[in-house]
Amino acid sequence: MIKILFICLGNICRSPMAEFVMKDIVKKRGLEDYFLISSAATSDYNEKYQCHIYPEVKEILKENKIPFTDRISRHMRIEDYDEYDYMIGMDEENIRDILDMIGTDSEQKVYRLLDFTETPRDVIDPWYYGNFDKTYEDIKYGCEKLLEFILNSNQSMVK
Ligand code: 4NP
Repeated sequence: MIKILFICLGNICRSPMAEFVMKDIVKKRGLEDYFLISSAATSDYNEKYQCHIYPEVKEILKENKIPFTDRISRHMRIEDYDEYDYMIGMDEENIRDILDMIGTDSEQKVYRLLDFTETPRDVIDPWYYGNFDKTYEDIKYGCEKLLEFILNSNQSMVK
């Protein structure tokens, strides 16, 4: 079982979008039994206020026929580093916050999503900058590239 945790600042926009996009990608490839995929926030704010997935994210998922279930933001925990194989942040700030919490990434589990693409960059936070369509495109492309990376690193899965 390969365990992936997508992480962003609030866990109501980018990381839940990535969670459900990746679940859809692995399901369409017939690989869902091999994966456990979830998401979390670097900030505790939205967990404290029991925030749901942001409505515009739900709209984008619906438009693109990506199944999702509603969820409440959850703050990342230090134990997540032992629990998950891949901790995928959306931007540089997320990576810094993750490393601040866990200390060193001794098992090389922490990556920025779009670093798997030919154009490494942040997934810009739509909460502040809008453009949820662009967020979706970046996340979908990043997740496809992440899956390629994982499959290349776990050749026995795809035999
Ligand atoms: P996300 O966006 O990190 O993509 O979930 C945000 C959502 C909410 C807040 C910040 C970022 N907030 O400050 O409430």
